[in-house]
Amino acid sequence: MNSIDKKPNYKQIYKFVKDKFDKTTHFKHGPFDETYYTLRVYESAKEIIKKLNKKVKKEQLLVATILHDIGKIKLKSGKMFKRDAVLENASEEWHKHAKLGVPIARRYLKTIGHSEEFIEEVCYLIEHHDLRGDKLQKRSLELQILQDADLIADVGFAGFIRPFLYSGKFSKQSVISSIEFIKKEDRTSNGKELNLNISKSIAKREMKIQSNLAKEISKEIDSDLL
Ligand SMILES: [Fe+2]
Repeated sequence: MNSIDKKPNYKQIYKFVKDKFDKTTHFKHGPFDETYYTLRVYESAKEIIKKLNKKVKKEQLLVATILHDIGKIKLKSGKMFKRDAVLENASEEWHKHAKLGVPIARRYLKTIGHSEEFIEEVCYLIEHHDLRGDKLQKRSLELQILQDADLIADVGFAGFIRPFLYSGKFSKQSVISSIEFIKKEDRTSNGKELNLNISKSIAKREMKIQSNLAKEISKEIDSDLL
């Protein structure tokens, strides 16, 4: 590890990522706002690391949380979105983002002075972050944390607001149906999608926040008009 590896400039890396997403059509605001979700994954990973209390390659992992979705800037939006809809086969294009992110991260981390070894460790995390369940036989502890943080970032307050952002951008869902959706939606599938027990307990807390918010807002549509 060189001196930059030991003390990465997380703010500078986030700025690089934010500037890239700001130039896209779909990832700077709305339901897929990566300037927000990137930050959430970074913060969620920090919480897991702290509570896990195990030796992890923290610097590589946190750099990967910031860069993990950078490949989305290379996705062809015409293959995923129409003005008011997400296309049915969007996931085919979407799944390319992990691999597409690797050369972007590699080039950038080199320019800011990280070592080859450090860069390869970050790139392993980026490339595999979307391979959940049986899609991968073995995962490093750092990859397990990144995958869990990626899901936890999308529950709680974040899980509450995304459906509204979605319905605002793609006119398929009314506010009332968004409220109904939030009551049921759990990106972690009741923790089953998570690798680590500590992540399950964080997700449980976040889902409690989400369901309490849903309960509160549900009272407002408890109307005899429905
Ligand atoms: Fe991703």
